[in-house]
Amino acid sequence: MGIQEPIIRSYDGVADRGRVEDLERRCEVGPSERVFLFTDTMGDPICRIRNSPMHKMLVAELDNQLVGVIQGSIKLVTFHPNKPPPKDQAKVGYLLGLRVSPLYRRKGIGSSLVRRLEEWFVCNDVDYAYMATEKDNQASAGLFMNKFGYIKFRTPAILVNPVRYRPCRVSSGVEIAKLRIEEAEYLYRKCMASTEFFSHDIDKVLGNKLSLGTWVAYPRGDGLRVGDFGSNGDEMVPSNWAMLSVWNSGELFNLRLGKAPLSCFMYAKSWKLMDRFLPCFKLLPSMPDFFTPFGFYFMYGLHHEGPLSGKLVRNLCQFVHNMAANSSEYSSKNCKVVVTEVGGCDPVKHYIPHWKLLSCSEDLWCIKPLKNDSLHELTKTHPTKSLFVDPREV
Ligand SMILES: CC(C)(COP(=O)(O)OP(=O)(O)OC[C@H]1O[C@@H](n2cnc3c(N)ncnc32)[C@H](O)[C@@H]1OP(=O)(O)O)[C@@H](O)C(=O)NCCC(=O)NCCS
Repeated sequence: MGIQEPIIRSYDGVADRGRVEDLERRCEVGPSERVFLFTDTMGDPICRIRNSPMHKMLVAELDNQLVGVIQGSIKLVTFHPNKPPPKDQAKVGYLLGLRVSPLYRRKGIGSSLVRRLEEWFVCNDVDYAYMATEKDNQASAGLFMNKFGYIKFRTPAILVNPVRYRPCRVSSGVEIAKLRIEEAEYLYRKCMASTEFFSHDIDKVLGNKLSLGTWVAYPRGDGLRVGDFGSNGDEMVPSNWAMLSVWNSGELFNLRLGKAPLSCFMYAKSWKLMDRFLPCFKLLPSMPDFFTPFGFYFMYGLHHEGPLSGKLVRNLCQFVHNMAANSSEYSSKNCKVVVTEVGGCDPVKHYIPHWKLLSCSEDLWCIKPLKNDSLHELTKTHPTKSLFVDPREV
């Protein structure tokens, strides 16, 4: 008897919601010996793509059971930074959230879901399909690279900093100012438009209610008053400055540590012991509880200019940490980590506070051209230092 073909159809928010959430709970993402995070979509499984300009979620059914799910989004980005506009642009389709019920794996269901999403991309004139996974997720890498011909493209670093409920020090020599959305859009289009994967609808990203704002940092006493920054084109931008925006991901979905490596347990345990037996250490930051669902802030659009701007980046990150620690005013009371993702060879990562234990030094981005003529060109592109990671795709 042949293997039964799954039915692949669009997600139905009423009929499928509970079953998709149940599937998500049963799927471990990544290799069993590593940290394993549950995503709690808080009753809205489509939340991770809802904010993208074009999105689709597909489910697979077999024997009346929901056995698989995949999500995808489409947008216009800067793709060939060295070419003049509009040749620098490409339409990209992002595949994410692929899950197949453990009992139904290796029966071709994951492949059927990927194939159908790629068909949707092709119908919508997408130039490149791409996906991100942990580099040691053999099932995912095997499916996309061996079976569907995706190639390794970029290896950004995901940097995670726990929120301690004690403020970090922000240097008194650094001025930090919040930009208006129009000012931020102007600066992003001026300074980051040639960055790989820069989203051309940056105005929509900045204007989204999850985007908490954009901040710039520059040396105090540079002749600029708060509010002047960037207001008169180049004249009002100092020689050293840095900028970033913050996205409240915790408002969409929560994370929870399902399984942690021994080192993580040991670390948490030693903090508890210190707390109990060495009360003088109480002044030290304690390890947040990652085993109950928590939200997080995602820092995106990180840009900096000038030889001394690394220090400004660090101060901006510390400022965001403090904002997260006081996050009740931003309606997310359980923000436990601040996350960012930067190009794998971007030296700025040395200025971004993070814990190695929680971070991932090499996220694997794989890509596949969907139009015949682009494969050769793709293999020739070298990573640019910086990379724009869209907060809507986290
Ligand atoms: C990754 C996943 C979706 C694969 O689903 P699936 O239905 O088992 O995939 P398929 O049966 O279509 O497999 C297609 C190919 O992928 C590769 N593959 C799948 N599982 C694999 C595994 N465990 N180890 C190595 N390669 C694997 C194989 O090349 C396979 O072809 P083959 O069976 O002819 O050898 C599934 O394992 C899963 O849900 N994992 C947990 C969630 C996850 O890691 N998602 C990916 C996040 S990006």
